[in-house]
Amino acid sequence: MKIKQITQNKKQFLELLLLADEQESMIDRYLERGEMYVLEEDGVKAVCVVTDEGDGLFEIKNLATDPLHQRKGYGRKMIQEMFSHYQHKGHTMLVGTGDSPLTIPFYESCGFVISHQIENFFLENYDQPIFENGKQLMHMVILKKYLKYPPLFPIICIMV
Ligand SMILES: CC(C)(COP(=O)(O)OP(=O)(O)OC[C@H]1O[C@@H](n2cnc3c(N)ncnc32)[C@H](O)[C@@H]1OP(=O)(O)O)[C@@H](O)C(=O)NCCC(=O)NCCS
Repeated sequence: MKIKQITQNKKQFLELLLLADEQESMIDRYLERGEMYVLEEDGVKAVCVVTDEGDGLFEIKNLATDPLHQRKGYGRKMIQEMFSHYQHKGHTMLVGTGDSPLTIPFYESCGFVISHQIENFFLENYDQPIFENGKQLMHMVILKKYLKYPPLFPIICIMV
């Protein structure tokens, strides 16, 4: 298994990218400025796009595993690799997703915690209603994971 960065012709993986973000014009907002990775094991099994949001913040904008190979650990492996790669570049990884029982448990199992939500994101930014698991997505849930331990506070020893 290996994870490699893709710097050219990123749209060759559009089919996978559309699994995570079903409107191509939304993918176009981050694809070129984002860093793209594919996980290969007898062919491409998963894709991920990470953007630099400044001030040490990075964001997973897209993550998808080939539907024939989901629940085999590829998604988690990709996330773990992103954590170890970006901990040298920044302090926090964010990811935004719909309020869905298919994705939030996955990200939580990878160590993310829910931070906040962006109200009506899917209603205001997508041309068509998006349904997941039979439920229309409205708000974007933002999860975060600290890539580094918080700075140590000075320890004051009071000797009596
Ligand atoms: C979300 C997604 C990337 C997960 O990838 P994956 O390769 O299937 O995930 P993994 O096999 O690494 O799963 C790791 C753990 O996450 C949790 N998990 C994964 N999918 C889950 C699901 N559908 N429901 C509940 N928990 C889930 C489980 O704890 C799982 O461990 P387990 O299989 O030992 O129980 C994949 O389902 C996918 O591509 N979905 C479509 C695109 C998408 O929605 N992307 C996210 C957009 S924000």
